[in-house]
Amino acid sequence: MNAVNTGLHAAGDMLLDVRNLKVHLRVSDQIVRAVDGADLKVHQSECVGVVGESGSGKSTLVRAVSRLMPNLRIEELSGDVKFEGRDLLSMSDRDLRALRRARGFSMIFQDPLGYLNPTQRVERQIAEALSDNARGQSAGQRVCNLLDEVGFADPRNVARRFPHELSGGMRQRVMIAMALASDPKILFADEPTTALDATVQLQVLETIYRLHKERNMAVAIITHDLGVIAELCDRVYVMKGGQTVESASTIDLFERPQHPYSARLIGLSTHGRHEKSVLS
Ligand SMILES: Nc1ncnc2c1ncn2[C@@H]1O[C@H](COP(=O)(O)OP(=O)(O)OP(=O)(O)O)[C@@H](O)[C@H]1O
Ligand SMILES: [Mg+2]
Repeated sequence: MNAVNTGLHAAGDMLLDVRNLKVHLRVSDQIVRAVDGADLKVHQSECVGVVGESGSGKSTLVRAVSRLMPNLRIEELSGDVKFEGRDLLSMSDRDLRALRRARGFSMIFQDPLGYLNPTQRVERQIAEALSDNARGQSAGQRVCNLLDEVGFADPRNVARRFPHELSGGMRQRVMIAMALASDPKILFADEPTTALDATVQLQVLETIYRLHKERNMAVAIITHDLGVIAELCDRVYVMKGGQTVESASTIDLFERPQHPYSARLIGLSTHGRHEKSVLS
């Protein structure tokens, strides 16, 4: 890594600590070094951004951390991935499932429809993801509370619908509600708004930011959009060719990018910045 910002956080509040992660895939007869020495640290209540060109390994990084890599032929998976000091890479599937359900981490994706069950009503899908906390309330009530929290004015109505009856922005909110159901300490968001139109993008980002603040929930957001990073994130990781080439506070990255690739990214982004602030 060329530049490492140690930040203001004490070592004790580290939630996720990824060091030298390598994920090499076998694709036909080739080996693709999708992630090849990546680092990522997320502290409690922090919002971290991951940027980098298409194919730089951003999605593979967060999927490997969450161990969500179905149907991939993995040639090598190595490095150090700790969540609150526990080694995630060697954790059994059972322990991992337990961790996901009990205040661990959740993920949302660019394409919620691919992850929602088309044959089940929203209520049932969110109810299945509920943690065991908050006894005393019915599952239905908890689902409505979550739908309310992600900004639906009429949670009962949305709870009864099927995914295809919702717009893209509504589906992403449902996906967020589902992700929140386990009361996660970290939300991984992989390009959560790329598929949405500009106005809806802003609304969904605003929702994620509000939840991050209200719940003291850490967020690791993958995006191509440095405007989003500038608005939301405390720190940024820049990836290139499967590696983390720079990590810095957002201010430092914009004012003093250390890696030539980061400087180039920022140079490009100043032409296409958001006209409207996400937080206004
Ligand atoms: N399922 C897969 N099959 C084949 N190659 C893959 C697969 N998943 C990832 N790769 C390869 O691994 C590398 C990293 O891909 P990844 O999707 O992690 O990049 P990314 O930074 O998320 O890109 P994007 O910004 O386009 O989403 C790329 O070369 C990609 O082609
Ligand atoms: Mg990706």
